[in-house]
Amino acid sequence: MEQVFAVFGDPISHSLSPVIHNAAISALGLSARYHAFKVERENLGNALSGAQAMGFGGVNLTIPLKEAALKFVEPDPLARQIGAVNTVDFKNGMKGYNTDGIGARKAVESAGVSVKDKTVLLLGAGGASRAIAFQFALTGARLLIVNRTEEKAQSLAQDVSSIRKAEGFSLAELKKLIAEADILINSTSVGMYPDTNNTLVKQEMMHSNLVVFDIVYNPLHTRLLKEAEASGARIITGEKMLIYQGAEAFRIWTGISPPVDVMDKALLAALGEKQ
Ligand code: ATR
Repeated sequence: MEQVFAVFGDPISHSLSPVIHNAAISALGLSARYHAFKVERENLGNALSGAQAMGFGGVNLTIPLKEAALKFVEPDPLARQIGAVNTVDFKNGMKGYNTDGIGARKAVESAGVSVKDKTVLLLGAGGASRAIAFQFALTGARLLIVNRTEEKAQSLAQDVSSIRKAEGFSLAELKKLIAEADILINSTSVGMYPDTNNTLVKQEMMHSNLVVFDIVYNPLHTRLLKEAEASGARIITGEKMLIYQGAEAFRIWTGISPPVDVMDKALLAALGEKQ
């Protein structure tokens, strides 16, 4: 019988997870299908129990369900620390994982850049930033967290410091901190459609030894990445994080490392990018 995988969220119609997972399923010749379901927050417990009862192979969670999931699943230590679950596995009860940070780390590593002992300037202190901060701290990065609301940056830095010392700053410190950084990651929504002309960092604030990764993938070449390119920095586009967080979920569910090149090609086609 065909195995069912799914993403739950609300809104969900624009989710690209079915594109990347079904590309992997086809390439591997598996008898499976990945679907998107609109699930409201108050129905999450029922939806997860239903998926478990019906023998789903696994479920991804997206907005607004990632934090709410902690009430229903048994989170692994990293998901518990992050406070959010994006992957649920039913092999042994209802286990929760968070693969967003691993997705970001592998996105950077896929460009041939190692994270260990690097100074990483993380822009943002929201949900995505939290997943990235914990994973990068675990990988041995020195984190400088910069956020419009400085207290949130400091609070995240303090949480992460249980793993590795991190510091939080306001946007006023940005220029000075970028000069110290090896890797700059934008994990805010600044630059995302329809706000495409916006960036928190301009060309003159960056340097040619910097690697700049923007988790925004709509558009793929954000204003930040264009400014980074003009400064001579190396750039990594946001679709890579989506691919690698999905690949890690797929591996948790199936034990198979899926073909990321096939997934990336399908995603870029869905995003309307030329290959
Ligand atoms: P997500 O779960 O996608 O990370 P979020 O939790 O709402 O979303 O976090 C959004 C992040 O983008 C925050 O760090 C936010 O800064 P504040 O904490 O100060 O709100 C940041 N952000 C959003 N719009 C911004 C803007 N126009 N300028 C600067 N930072 C912005």
